[in-house]
Parts: sequence; C-alpha cells; structure tokens
Amino acid sequence: MEFSIKSTAPEKLRTDCLLVGIYEGRKLTDLAKSLDEVTGKAITLALKSGDMEGKSGSTLILRQLSGVAATRVLLVGLGKAEEFSLRTLRNAFRAALKASPAGVEALATDFASLPVKKSDIRAKVAALAEVALDASYQVNAIKEKKAEPKPLKQIALLVNKEDSGAADTGLQQGQSVGHGVAMAKDLGNLPPNICTPTYLGKQAEKLAKDYGFKVEVLEEADIEKLKMGSFLGVTRGSEEPPRFIVLQHLKGKKSQKPVVLVGKGITFDTGGISLKPGADMDEMKYDMCGAASVFGVFKAIGELDLPLNVVGLIPTCENMPSGKATKPGDVLTSMSGLTIEVLNTDAEGRLILCDALTYAERFEPSAVIDIATLTGACVIALGHHPSGLFANNDSLAKKLLDAGEKAQDRAWQMPLWDDYQGQLDSNFADMANIGGRAGGSITAACFLSRFAKKYDWAHLDIAGTAWKSGKEKGATGRPVPLLVTYLVQQAAEKV
Ligand code: BES
Ligand code: MN
Ligand code: ZN
Repeated sequence: MEFSIKSTAPEKLRTDCLLVGIYEGRKLTDLAKSLDEVTGKAITLALKSGDMEGKSGSTLILRQLSGVAATRVLLVGLGKAEEFSLRTLRNAFRAALKASPAGVEALATDFASLPVKKSDIRAKVAALAEVALDASYQVNAIKEKKAEPKPLKQIALLVNKEDSGAADTGLQQGQSVGHGVAMAKDLGNLPPNICTPTYLGKQAEKLAKDYGFKVEVLEEADIEKLKMGSFLGVTRGSEEPPRFIVLQHLKGKKSQKPVVLVGKGITFDTGGISLKPGADMDEMKYDMCGAASVFGVFKAIGELDLPLNVVGLIPTCENMPSGKATKPGDVLTSMSGLTIEVLNTDAEGRLILCDALTYAERFEPSAVIDIATLTGACVIALGHHPSGLFANNDSLAKKLLDAGEKAQDRAWQMPLWDDYQGQLDSNFADMANIGGRAGGSITAACFLSRFAKKYDWAHLDIAGTAWKSGKEKGATGRPVPLLVTYLVQQAAEKV
C-alpha cells in the first residue's frame, strides 16, 4: 500500500474514488459542502432522495459528478457530529474501505482533516494509515490462487498545507504500526508445521539483519546451561527443538535502562499429557501470538528507528504429549531456584515465561512487559475486546492502559492481590502451576509475579484478543499498536 499526503483541491483530484463524510441527520462536512456547491447540489439531492442519513458505517456511491475529477464519490456516514471521535473516525474509514467497489486502485480522503476532539493531525493520519493496512491485510494462504480484481494500491490523505509536516510524522508512525501488526498476523497465521521454534529463531535473525538489532538464538544446550528447568520441562515431550530468542534494539543512551518485552512462543499447545479436547485444537497454533507481537513491535520500532533501548525475549517450544513428556505431579526447578509442582501440563505458558522473567533480570530493566495467550479464563472474564492487564506497579499499568486507549487496542486492568496467592500452595514444591478454576487468569498472573519481584512488571493476557475464530479466523496483530504507542511515549519522555 502506498500512502501520500496531499493538499490538492479535492474536486480537482484525479482518483478512482473520493471519500466524502456525512454526519448523521444528513449534515454535510466541509468537503461535502464544497462539492455540493461545485456539483449544483448533487450531494444534497442524493441524500434527500432518502438513500442515506449519515448513520455510522453507511455508504452511498455516486458516479461521474460533473465538476469533480474523481471517477466516483463515496459518501460515508460518520454518525452523530457531536459524538465524532478517533474511534468513530476509524470505524467510518474501515466501512468506507469495505464499501469501496472492486477495481478501485487509488482512493483519496479528507478524513484526516475532520475535526476530532482531543486529537491532532498526527494522531488522525496515524490511525487512518493503520486502519488501511489492517483492512487490506491478506493471509498468505497455501491454496490455488484465484484471479481477483486488482486490490487498492494508493491512498491519498488530504490535509491543509500547514498540517503536512505533522501528517508526515503521523503517516510514518501509522505505517510502522501497520507493518508490525501485519508481521504479527503473518507469523500467527502460519501453520504450526512451518512456524516451529526453529523457524521463529530464523525469523529473528532475519529481522535483526534487516534493522540492525543485536540477536542471539539460544539452543537446547544453552538453555540447559542457564538452568531453565521450568522451560525445559515444557519442551521435553516434543521432537522439535526449543529456542530462546534475545533481540536487542539499542537506540537509546547507553546508560538508559531498557524496556524488556517477553513473548510466549508456544508454537503448538496440545495441552501435553493433560491433553486438550479435540474441538478447535487447531487454534492452539496461535499460542505463539505473544512472541509474534514482540516480533511485530521490533519491526515497527526498527522502521521508526525509535531512540530507546528495548530488549525482546522469546522462549519458544511446542507443548506435546509423549513418553518423555512432563507428567502431572512432576516437580521442576526453575532458573530462579524456585520449584514448581506441575499439576496440569496444559498450564505451560507460565512455565516457559517464568524462566524468561528470571533471565530478564540481567538487563536491569526499567520495566518488563510479558505478552501471552495465557488463559482461557481471561476470555471468560473479558471476552474478546480488551486484553487483560496485570501489573505490580500502578504507574506502569496506567501508562499501558493509556497507550491502549490511544491506539484503540485496549486493555483492562485486573487485580493482582495477595488474596489469590494461596491458591498456588503445594505440599511438594514452592508452588503449584495451577490455582483452580476460580480466578484462573488472576492466579496465572500471580504465578508470574513471583518471578518478577526485582523490577516493575506488567503482564498482558491476550488469549481473547490475539486472534479471531469462526469464518473470519485469523490473527489480529494485537497488542502491537498498544505496545508501540507505549514505547513511542517512553522515547518522548526520555529525550
Ligand atoms: N494457551 C492456553 C490458553 C488459551 C486457551 C488461550 C484457549 C486461548 C484459548 C494455555 O496454555 C492453557 O491451556 N491454559 C489453561 C490453564 C489451566 C490448565 C489452568 C486454560 O486456560 O485452560
Ligand atoms: Mn496450555
Ligand atoms: Zn498455551
């Protein structure tokens, strides 16, 4: 997708499709008013004929308006003018892209110039670029290619001349987030026989080469040397060798403590000996979406050349049953020295993350954020809209909540109270790896918190947000927008 920032008079713009916003109650935007003038009230007439009210998401196509250079004008409902926000702007743009007829290769819109409370050009342009990249994403499906109409290739964003500098900045940020999201989706959507721990290791090396990151891909022997007994307990049952990936983007001051991102990289979760039921088990290929989001964030900050120190840690393996697999009742010794009684081998995410959290200590981080498709219980608690957020530091939690709000990639904070810790008691080790059905996503976070005592830490449970099921099955690339927005904010604060 190619974007451009333009300050041409909209009616003179040669394009396949010009988007024109209409507020609810048939209220015209400035662009709609000026086109209405040029065309001898063609827009008012079309609206009056009852075809369109301006309800959010509604659209109406007009062709060959005299005095307008664009081949088509797509009227787009924006909803109530007084409720117009960055969120409704995104939704309207998404609806417009969906409604733009097949064969439209170039499209233009003044949406970035629509007034939105508490928002600026930079944010609006970033949001539009992100939505366009998200909406035009196509899965690299392994099947016969059908002849399809030419896809949308160019989007021109119309802004006032004096806004074009800010618009450029916004465009860069929006595109980087969009590319990061696409990378996270690509990795998530790959079949698990291709997207193995070895494959992820190779992708990390490739990404590092493209953007100049430091990279280490540790193999099983290295992981043994580090005494990551908990991580090793999960990979035991699998024929695929594990990897522990360390990515480093060091573009801040040398003395600046890094933000460490830890992504759960289970490339397939069968449950292990505590085998999962068969229905929908294919979706457990998405159990590496935390890892995929770390890749996506690195792509975005690499593209942006963000002046910040960021470390990415990815423990990655499969969770399989076999004669060698860890059994319920087995006790593992984690890298921290704490011992864990494995009561359910399907609670494996926390077992690979806890060793990565211990490994994170060596970076003396300013903050550690782990991202994991950790618990089905989080989906029960919050559904598929927000990611679950847990933190041992309220100021870090607030920054992440704000970033999610700004990026429209929201999280919702859940409690991490000591009251829940007792559910992890074990008679045979320092802790059990499960805490019963009650508050399942909270006890999972409590488990992790025991390994994150030495720094400010947050945990994002993305079990409900990382992918969609059903007819639209596919990875979402979340929470890349939240994380990049947080890191951009961090970089701004540190300059
Ligand atoms: N990867 C799953 C969590 C999951 C399940 C995410 C379904 C999205 C949809 C995780 O490893 C897991 O199996 N968790 C168990 C924990 C339980 C055994 C305490 C769960 O949620 O059932
Ligand atoms: Mn599991
Ligand atoms: Zn899992």
